[in-house]
Amino acid sequence: MKPGSHLLSIDDFGVKEADRILKVAKSFEQQLKFTKKFNLLDGHILASLFFEPSTRTRLSFESAMLRLGGSVLTVVGQTSSLEKGESFPDMGRVVSSYADIAVMRHPKEFSVHELCKGAKIPVINAGDGANEHPSQSLLDLYTIQKSQGRLENITIGFLGDLKFGRAAHSTVKLLSRYPVNFVFISHPYLKLPESVLKVVKENGRKYEETDTLKDVVDHTDVLYVTRVQKERFLDLSEYEEVKSVFQVNKDTLISAKKSMSIMHPLPRLEEIQKEVDLDPRANYFDQVQNGLYVRMALLAMLLGKADGVSV
Ligand code: CP
Repeated sequence: MKPGSHLLSIDDFGVKEADRILKVAKSFEQQLKFTKKFNLLDGHILASLFFEPSTRTRLSFESAMLRLGGSVLTVVGQTSSLEKGESFPDMGRVVSSYADIAVMRHPKEFSVHELCKGAKIPVINAGDGANEHPSQSLLDLYTIQKSQGRLENITIGFLGDLKFGRAAHSTVKLLSRYPVNFVFISHPYLKLPESVLKVVKENGRKYEETDTLKDVVDHTDVLYVTRVQKERFLDLSEYEEVKSVFQVNKDTLISAKKSMSIMHPLPRLEEIQKEVDLDPRANYFDQVQNGLYVRMALLAMLLGKADGVSV
């Protein structure tokens, strides 16, 4: 990923670049054991633009910038001049006058691409509607490598809302580049979109689709659980029908491998029961922590300051 470029989609980087991001992230993880603050991005400003709720993505990007010695400007909710009808390209141009890099979340698909038409600084997509969430996928990749020790010969099960879940879309597309197998477990209404499945097929990956978790849980190395995305449903009666189809609990995991990793981009509702938190296979809070390291790597790399980071 070249300094100064945008990160809008998984398509913006290749396997070699992902490998470099993971290495830089690992270096930051190790260094954070000895120091809380770096001066790598001293004087740099992050514009943090969140037009949809977020806890992890916003705070981890902001924490990453602060840990690297930079500063943060934040716009949250309906407080910007977008509300007065300002266009995304104009907003991009304006933000470029005040910050050196921007991260944006917005409910409208491809809105971040519109922002980039006016932006003169690197922009990171922190989730555009049901489309993509590329930095989430990179932290997912980092977490899988950490828990499984490899990114090959593993079977990854995606469970829940595969239709609207942007984290699942980006992570499936990213993992398709590695020699892994997939299991897609969902209610028929919440199946993975054909556009994402096409990427799996084009990369020649094996996959199964099912609506029954117990048939596949025993041969799954990573179980990536997702929340049913209520905010994307136009008809809430449809949401009510599908919201509680899957619940991972102690019983669900009886036949699962001891080495299995249970992941979730969070927030979770009922789809992972709290009793699972005590299971050593529960990795979703490790994912949260890994988000900091990966986002430190992204900020440093996109601002051209990662060359000196020892990996
Ligand atoms: N995983 C994730 O995107 O969480 P937030 O919505 O809290 O940012």
